[in-house]
Amino acid sequence: MKKLVFLTGAGMSAESGFATFRDSGGLWEQYDVQKVASIEGYWQDPALVIQFYNERRHQLLTAQPNEGHRLVASLEDKYDVTVVTQNVEDLHERAGSKKVIHLHGELMKATSTDNPNDPDQIVTLTPENIDIKMGQKAKDGSQLRPFIVWFGEAVPMIEPAIDEVSEADILVVIGTSLNVYPAAGLLRYAKRNCKMYLIDPKPINVPMDLNIHVIAKGASAGMKELIEMLKKEE
Ligand code: APR
Repeated sequence: MKKLVFLTGAGMSAESGFATFRDSGGLWEQYDVQKVASIEGYWQDPALVIQFYNERRHQLLTAQPNEGHRLVASLEDKYDVTVVTQNVEDLHERAGSKKVIHLHGELMKATSTDNPNDPDQIVTLTPENIDIKMGQKAKDGSQLRPFIVWFGEAVPMIEPAIDEVSEADILVVIGTSLNVYPAAGLLRYAKRNCKMYLIDPKPINVPMDLNIHVIAKGASAGMKELIEMLKKEE
């Protein structure tokens, strides 16, 4: 089976009702990213950051995967698929994708402030106990915090993601402005003969030396077109 790797971003979940970050009306227009999504912001005002992610987690309760998520999962019948996502919600998993690497953490998980990447400290939140509260402790006694990679923190999953991309026969980028590193740098690790596609309704700056086939559509319509193209390549 050929290896097919997706690199997805916020645009993948736009049709599920999630705001993207940098589109007009996006999250970083409504909130100061340094205050709510950076490690300095967390040290400065942990309650504000914890509340920001509590609000985003509540939205997950009503959100559903969209056609694009389902079509990504459907390709597992024909390809060895890995989804590398910058998204912190679990819509890829809920659409049926079996192998998902979350580069920027997971909204439904929480961890320790003192040892955020210690696997023993990571807990899964449930709809019944979905909010993190100030004063709530992780196993090591420090404040429980969102299991999110904030600006200024390391991206522990970037190595496994590089391994996946470097082995890909096909790489499909969906719904990311490719503004944030190291995620955006993953394209550089693709093999020379890796066939690359990019699905996004807006023009995206990609390195000119990379031969990327652009499908200028939303995730669902774009995935339909991609699947037709892949059928012709078989
Ligand atoms: N289908 C596909 N793509 C879409 C759609 C759609 N329906 N709607 C918007 N897009 C595209 C936009 O054109 C844009 O290129 O999705 C992209 C979203 O880009 P960003 O808002 O920058 O989101 P993303 O690239 O995922 O941000 C990366 O930045 O703030 C951090 O941690 C955060 O993971 C996030 C990272």
